[in-house]
Amino acid sequence: MRPFLLLAALLAGCDDTIFYPPAHGRPVDIGDGGWCGVRAVLASSCGGCHSAAGAAGGLDLETDPHAALVDGGLVVPGDPDASLLLAKLDGTAAGGAMPPSGMLDSAVRDAFRDWVAAGADADCSDAPPPIGGVGPHPAGWAAPDQHGMAAKFQQLDCRQCHSDTLTGDVGPACTSCHTEGWLSDCTSCHGGVDSPSGAPPQDIDDNDDLAYSPFRPHTAHLAPGAHAPIACETCHRVPSSALAEGHVFADGTPGRAEVVFTGLATGGAWNGQQCTVACHGNGRGPGTVDHQAGPRQCDSCHPFLTSSEAALESMSGEHRDHVDEGILCSACHAGTVDSTGTIVGPAQHVDGTVQLQLPAGMTRSGGTCTGTCHGEVHTANSWL
Ligand code: HEC
Ligand code: HEC
Ligand code: HEC
Ligand code: HEC
Ligand code: HEC
Ligand code: HEC
Ligand code: HEC
Repeated sequence: MRPFLLLAALLAGCDDTIFYPPAHGRPVDIGDGGWCGVRAVLASSCGGCHSAAGAAGGLDLETDPHAALVDGGLVVPGDPDASLLLAKLDGTAAGGAMPPSGMLDSAVRDAFRDWVAAGADADCSDAPPPIGGVGPHPAGWAAPDQHGMAAKFQQLDCRQCHSDTLTGDVGPACTSCHTEGWLSDCTSCHGGVDSPSGAPPQDIDDNDDLAYSPFRPHTAHLAPGAHAPIACETCHRVPSSALAEGHVFADGTPGRAEVVFTGLATGGAWNGQQCTVACHGNGRGPGTVDHQAGPRQCDSCHPFLTSSEAALESMSGEHRDHVDEGILCSACHAGTVDSTGTIVGPAQHVDGTVQLQLPAGMTRSGGTCTGTCHGEVHTANSWL
C-alpha cells in the first residue's frame, strides 16, 4: 500500500549507516565515515545555507569544503576538541548548534570527530555528492516522486526554509514550478481520476489501483445513485487549502487520512476496514459494512421483498404481514421507490429519516392507520 514508506523503513532498518538529517528527512549514506561520510553530511545538511552563493556566516562549504574547513581553521587536524567545527556540531560554541534546525545524530557527530582525530585527510574515491543548485536537497530532488512524496509524507517540513506560505525564503517559491493556486487545487496531490473532487482513486502515494486503496468506494459515495451524493464533510474534516492546520503540515499523523463523521447526526466509527454507521443500518440502528464488500443490493442494509420471513420480521410493525400479502414497498413509500423497486427519490433515501407516502384513502396518526387498502378496512390499526 505504501511502497514509498516501506522502502524508507527497510532502508532505516537494515543499514545503520543511513541517516535521516533532522531538518531534511531524506536518507544520507555515511558509509564507513571518513571524508566520504563527512562530505555527504555537509552536502545534505549544511550546503543549503553554506552554499557558494549563500555562504551563511561567511562559510562556503560548496566550492571546496575540505579547504574551507581545514585551511580555514575550523578544523585542527588530530585535535577535535580544538576544532570550532566540532563545537558548532555539539552546540557548545557561541551562536548555537549547527545545523540550526536541530543537532545531528550523535553517531554522525562521532563520524566527524573520528575523521578530525585521524588527521582530517581529504581521501575519498567516491564521486562528490551533489551540493549547490538544489540547496540542501539530494540529486534528483526536483522529480515529483522525490520532493512531492517527501512533502506529502512530511519527511521534512518544507515551510522551515521555503516559508510558511511556501512562497520562498531560504529556498525557492514552490510556484516557481507549480501553478498559482495549486495548494487549493484539490487534485494537486490526490484524486482527479474519477472526478475533480480530490477524492481517490489516486491515493496519497499516487497509486490509483483500487486493490491497494484504503477505501475503495469513494466514487460510489460521491456519485448520485440510490442516494444523494455524499459529501466529503460526512466522513472527513475538509480543508480549504493544503496549508490548512492539520492537513498536510502540522499534522500529527503525516500521510494518514483521518476519518471524522462530523457530518453525520448519529456519528459513526471506522476501524480501518469497516464502517459502522446509520447509513448502512436497517433504519432502526447502525449497520457495519466492509469497504471491500462491493456494490450494495436492496437487501444489503435492510430487508427487501425477496428477504426471508425472519429478516422481514426484524423490520418494524406490520412490514412482514404486508409483504406476505404481496404489497410492494412502493405502496407506502411511493416517494422513495416505485413498483419496479427503483429508487425514485434518492434525496430522501438514506437521509436518516423514514419517509412515508401512503396510498390514497389511507391516513396515519399516532402510529395507527385508518382507511381501506388491499381490500382491508383499517380502523386506527396499530403499526406496532
Ligand atoms: C539554516 C542555515 C544553516 C544551516 C543548514 C547550517 N548553517 Fe552553519 N551557519 C549558519 C549561519 C547563519 C551561521 C553564522 C552564525 C553563527 O555562527 O551561528 C553559521 C555558522 C557556522 C559556522 C561558524 C563559521 C565561523 O567561521 O564562525 C560553522 C562551523 C558552521 N556554521 C557549520 C555548519 C555545518 C557543519 C552545518 C551542517 C551540519 C551547518 N553549519 C548548517 C547557517 C546554517
Ligand atoms: C533546510 C532548508 C530546506 C528545507 C527544509 C526544504 N528545502 Fe527545498 N530547497 C532549499 C534550498 C536552499 C533550495 C534552493 C537551492 C538553490 O536554489 O540552489 C531548495 C530547493 C528546492 C527545490 C528545487 C530543486 C531544483 O532542483 O530546482 C524543490 C523542488 C524543493 N526545494 C522542494 C522542497 C520540499 C518539497 C521540501 C519539503 C518536503 C523542502 N524543499 C524542504 C531548502 C530547503
Ligand atoms: C523545480 C521545479 C519544482 C519546484 C521548485 C517545486 N516542485 Fe513540486 N513538483 C514539480 C513537478 C514537475 C511535479 C509533478 C507535476 C505536478 O504534480 O504538478 C511536482 C509535484 C509535486 C507534488 C506531488 C504532486 C502529486 O503527484 O501528488 C508535491 C506534493 C510537490 N510537488 C510539492 C512541492 C513543494 C511543497 C514545493 C516547494 C517547497 C515544490 N513542490 C516545488 C516541480 C517542482
Ligand atoms: C463515506 C465516507 C467518505 C466520504 C464521503 C469520503 N471519504 Fe475519503 N476516505 C474515507 C475513508 C474511510 C478513507 C480511508 C481512511 C484510512 O486510510 O483509514 C478515506 C481516505 C481518503 C483519502 C486518503 C487516501 C490515501 O491515500 O490514504 C483522501 C485523499 C480522501 N479520502 C479524500 C476524500 C475527498 C476529497 C472526499 C470528497 C470529495 C472524500 N474523501 C469523501 C471515507 C470517505
Ligand atoms: C500539497 C498536497 C495536497 C493538496 C494540494 C491537498 N491535499 Fe488533501 N491530503 C494531502 C495529504 C498528504 C493527505 C493525507 C492525510 C494527512 O496527511 O492528513 C490528504 C488528505 C486529504 C483528505 C482526507 C482527510 C484528512 O484530512 O486526512 C481530504 C478530505 C483531503 N485531503 C481533501 C483535500 C481538499 C478538499 C483539498 C483542496 C482544497 C486538498 N485536500 C488539497 C495532500 C494534499
Ligand atoms: C447502504 C444501505 C442501503 C441500501 C443499499 C438500500 N437502502 Fe433503503 N434504506 C436505507 C436506510 C438506512 C433507510 C432508513 C431511512 C433513511 O435513512 O432514509 C432506508 C429506507 C428505505 C425505504 C423507506 C423509505 C425511506 O426513504 O426512508 C425504502 C422503501 C427503501 N429504503 C428501499 C430500498 C431499495 C428499493 C433499495 C435498493 C434499490 C435500497 N433501499 C437499498 C439503507 C439502504
Ligand atoms: C403497509 C405500508 C408499508 C409497506 C408496504 C412498507 N413499509 Fe416500510 N415502513 C412503513 C411504516 C409505517 C414505517 C415506520 C415509520 C415509523 O413509524 O417511523 C416503515 C419504516 C420502514 C423502514 C425503517 C425501519 C423500520 O423497520 O421501521 C424501512 C427501512 C422501510 N420501511 C423499508 C421498507 C421496504 C424496503 C419495504 C418493502 C420491502 C417497505 N418498507 C414496505 C410502512 C410500510
